[in-house]
Amino acid sequence: MRSTRSFLPRAIALAAFAAFTVSGAAHAQGEPIKVGFMLPATGTYANLGTMIENGFKLQVQEQGGKLAGREVQYFKVDDESDPAKAADNVNKLIKRDAVDVLVGTVHSGVAMTMAKAAKESNTLLIVPNAGADAITGPMCAKNIFRTSFTNWQPAYAMGKVAADRGHKKAVTITWNYAAGNESVKGFTEGFEAGGGKVTQALSLPFPNVEFQALLTQIAAQKPDAVYAFFAGGGAVKFVKDYAAAGLMKTIPLYGPGFLTDGTLEAQGDAAQGMLTTLHYADNLNTPRDNAFRLAFAKAYKTNADVYAVQGYDAAQLLTAGLKAAGGDIKARDKVVAGMEAAQVDSPRGPFKLSKAHNPVQDIYLRQVKGNLNEVKNVAVKGLADPAKGCRM
Ligand code: PHB
Repeated sequence: MRSTRSFLPRAIALAAFAAFTVSGAAHAQGEPIKVGFMLPATGTYANLGTMIENGFKLQVQEQGGKLAGREVQYFKVDDESDPAKAADNVNKLIKRDAVDVLVGTVHSGVAMTMAKAAKESNTLLIVPNAGADAITGPMCAKNIFRTSFTNWQPAYAMGKVAADRGHKKAVTITWNYAAGNESVKGFTEGFEAGGGKVTQALSLPFPNVEFQALLTQIAAQKPDAVYAFFAGGGAVKFVKDYAAAGLMKTIPLYGPGFLTDGTLEAQGDAAQGMLTTLHYADNLNTPRDNAFRLAFAKAYKTNADVYAVQGYDAAQLLTAGLKAAGGDIKARDKVVAGMEAAQVDSPRGPFKLSKAHNPVQDIYLRQVKGNLNEVKNVAVKGLADPAKGCRM
């Protein structure tokens, strides 16, 4: 009797202790992964932000609403594509919300501020669009990843294509900010390596859309070709204005695929036949891409575009990191190692990351037909950004 009595409380205590430790661990495992979206919800890039978020969430839905078995909690900031507000905005997610991972953004200038804040606070960052070369160049870091492109990648490919098509003299036009300027630089490099010459580089402040005076200059110059970097609402207006000025018939207009991605319904006839280069196209017709496009169209009642793919792949890349860390987002070294080793099964085609954490990927030459950017061929296979200045 006595021994039984003294045994019981001890057994209960042990059982209680075991239950406590199990539930403690389960609690840590059960805590949701805090994902902080910093994307534009207003302004010329608003639609791009929505597509990225929807792409990310579709991937999570395909995992039963989880990331590698972990619940997900979303936090959101509208960055307005405004670099002046970027530091305050990113700090809301890092300090106020204490997110585990930042996902953003579209605009290169805003993204560079995000990268700086991520580096200083050692917060994991996945860039699902902004191409700023520096993010996977001089600013590269263990905790910073990108699932999109560098501004150099599609631009350099377009320069090569334009030179191969026999054009000798080109004028460039863009918004005067990091993405536009780097895109023009990449195009110029590819074009001039192929024997072409950029004779004038035109620009206007972001996000202005008063193109008329610049179109008049282009008409007066009569180059063989024009290369333009614009995206979102600005791309819609530029392509329509270019066509309305009668230039589409006389001076072919080229660009990175942002000029015609997610914009075709609004651009209508103006964009028909245009050639652009990008790491995605609308009719790749692979089982992987077809399944993705069908699921996206069902979920959101609209066609997927490159931004949706980049958001979707941000969730896939994060999943690879989480799986490598047994679901523990705090096990940073394992998460990073898993992301670095990942082969992302992207709708664009499978890709791996470079040492600088930027996709090494095929760049397609596409042509606009109806509401699709149809693939013509692979302009450059397995293109890696040179990642100048990245030391990791
Ligand atoms: C950028 O700012 O890096 C940027 C924005 C929109 C795009 C592509 C790049 O479509």
